[in-house]
Amino acid sequence: MCKAAERSAVSFKHNIGVVLKRTLLGKTNLPQQCTVGISDPQREVSVWLHGIGAPRDVTFEHSIACASPFTICIGGSDWQLRDAGKGPTLEFREHDGEGRLLAELGLRHSATMLTDGPALHLFQVDRCRNDCLSAGRLWAHYLHHAYLRRRSTSHIRLSTRAAQAMTASFICPRRVVLVSAVWGERSNMFPMNLLGSLSDDYFAFSLDSTRLAAPLVAGAGTVALSGIPVGRAEVAQQLGKNHKKESIAWSELPFATTPSTALGIPVPYFASRVIELQLETTRNLGSHTLFISRVVRDERRAAGEQFFMVHGIYQSWRLTHGYDYGGSVSNVSTISRI
Ligand SMILES: Cc1cc2nc3c(=O)[nH]c(=O)nc-3n(C[C@H](O)[C@H](O)[C@H](O)COP(=O)(O)O)c2cc1C
Repeated sequence: MCKAAERSAVSFKHNIGVVLKRTLLGKTNLPQQCTVGISDPQREVSVWLHGIGAPRDVTFEHSIACASPFTICIGGSDWQLRDAGKGPTLEFREHDGEGRLLAELGLRHSATMLTDGPALHLFQVDRCRNDCLSAGRLWAHYLHHAYLRRRSTSHIRLSTRAAQAMTASFICPRRVVLVSAVWGERSNMFPMNLLGSLSDDYFAFSLDSTRLAAPLVAGAGTVALSGIPVGRAEVAQQLGKNHKKESIAWSELPFATTPSTALGIPVPYFASRVIELQLETTRNLGSHTLFISRVVRDERRAAGEQFFMVHGIYQSWRLTHGYDYGGSVSNVSTISRI
């Protein structure tokens, strides 16, 4: 076949794919990850742990610890795993309104980590239910995700269950921060969204075990996490490539920095909140390494809508339930990259 005929065959196949996707996904045809502007802390979705003693709200006591195997870390000193009934679950619920159930993950305890603060319980996921869309639409999305995973060149291979669990976990809006770290002559700043508080003074974040950002943070021992006003989302996303760099010069950044208050780590001048952390322990869980840290200082510098990310499936739900006020949705696909 000549080159022109080959090109037109490829473009024909592409167009068929686009039409098929539009037909199958209909109005819910959104990118896997959407940027949204929400006040911090988010009060849109609550996360509840069921099946270990009394149900408890763990919205601000959990973090996505690893993509493969998909693992959730939950902080908890005042509950005991021996109180676990059959099959604990994590429920994602609308915080206000009717408190509708949006998704449920079936959990299996895999490890406990002791810290100087809360005990940290790691759970893998046995099953996943997502109630944001009708069953037909949901399966159309899952088929599309499976197709994207097959074509993906990412070094992280997600199982079907891990991909569904990741999708459900991004129903809870995940804030995006810029992480700054300095280790001797080396320094870097990059965006992260796999993170969360585990208690008032403990924090977890997870870095791809194979990227250069992870050893830099481990060596530095301290980091500063900067909250980003949603208007700065684009510039923060562009720093995603820094995960693969050994070091950057602060002067390379497209904005000015100022030193953080307690540790003097450079942070963006527009940071709306700066959380300074002292690393306590790390654990390699597979695709990601979990960093557990103690909060040294948490400084709120400005209010307003912050950069959060949600899954496109939940964004479809938000749009039909009056949660998005014509806001800031953009085409990002971090989930498909991890
Ligand atoms: C907004 C945003 C958030 C990210 N959050 C994380 C994270 O929490 N942990 C992590 O290891 N990588 C994170 N990354 C890095 C990406 O997964 C990816 O490795 C990086 O952007 C390089 O992408 P590439 O391989 O497509 O060039 C994030 C990237 C972006 C843009």
